[in-house]
Amino acid sequence: MDNLILIGFMGCGKTTVGQQLAKRLSYSFLDTDKYIEQKLGRTVSRIFEEEGEEHFRRQETEALKELAGKLNQTVVSVGGGLPIRTGNSELLKRLGTVIYLEASKEVLAARLKNDTTRPLLSGKDGLQKLELLYDKRLPFYEAASDFKIVTENKNLQDVVESIL
Ligand code: S3P
Repeated sequence: MDNLILIGFMGCGKTTVGQQLAKRLSYSFLDTDKYIEQKLGRTVSRIFEEEGEEHFRRQETEALKELAGKLNQTVVSVGGGLPIRTGNSELLKRLGTVIYLEASKEVLAARLKNDTTRPLLSGKDGLQKLELLYDKRLPFYEAASDFKIVTENKNLQDVVESIL
C-alpha cells in the first residue's frame, strides 16, 4: 500500500510539502480537493456556494471510498475538514500512514489573512472563525494521525526530511 496521507489545518502546507515529498520518493501526488473539483467540474468554493458544505463533506467521504485500494506509492493531501467527519479517520488509516502537519494558530492566521479560496474563512471575521475551528479540530487531527510533525521553525526541506 505504501501511501502517505497528510492531514492538518488549512494553510499548514499539506500541498506544498506533499508535492515535494512525492518528488523525493518518486511517488505520485494526489490532493482530495483537486480530485473532487475535477470530478464535479467546479471549484471547492463553487461547490460550497451552490450545494453547501454538507454536500462537499459527502464528496470527501465518497472520494476516500473511491480511492481505497486503488492507490499505491502515493502522497495524498486531504482537505483540512476531512478528518473531522465521523468514520473518515478509519478510512484514512486504511489508505496509508497518516501524518499530521502541525502549525500554530498565529502562523496559520498570517498565511491565510488574505486568502480568498477557503469558504470557511471568508468574510471580515475570518480570523475569528479560524481560531474557533482550530481549537475544535486539533483533537481530531491528533486522534486521526499516526505521526505528528511540528512545522514551526522548519523550512520546506526540513519538514520533508522530518517525514522521511
Ligand atoms: C477546508 C479546507 C480546504 C477545503 C475546503 C474546506 C476545511 O482544504 O477542503 O475549503 O474545512 O478545512 P485545505 O485544507 O487544503 O485548504
